[in-house]
Amino acid sequence: MPASASAPPASPPATGEAAYTVTLETSGWTYPARADETLLQAALRAGIRLASSCRNGTCRACMCHLEAGEIGYVVERPGLSRDEIDEGWILPCVARPRGDVTLAGDSAERMATEAPRPLPVGPRR
Ligand code: FES
Repeated sequence: MPASASAPPASPPATGEAAYTVTLETSGWTYPARADETLLQAALRAGIRLASSCRNGTCRACMCHLEAGEIGYVVERPGLSRDEIDEGWILPCVARPRGDVTLAGDSAERMATEAPRPLPVGPRR
């Protein structure tokens, strides 16, 4: 089945704990994503940082390619041209999964899992 992105559904995607699998083709990493969260939110929850800035579908910093699967948008007009949408480009910050998806062209990084080091304590001035 070809990958597809579509306009917002007539009714919102189902919510709940059922999770789909997102595969990042560039890094080979996978993470779970629920139907009621965006691909970017799910990545952050899994400790994976994807490129992003506005997180509302306008800046295009998160733009990547949907290689497989289907998504739905939480905004009516994501900041992509009709041609880009037809070519499979998506904005993960405003895209929710409708099944397992595979993304390419992402710039994923693992977030540090170490606890932050305490700041040195010194005399107050
Ligand atoms: S972070 Fe700006 S469009 Fe996704």
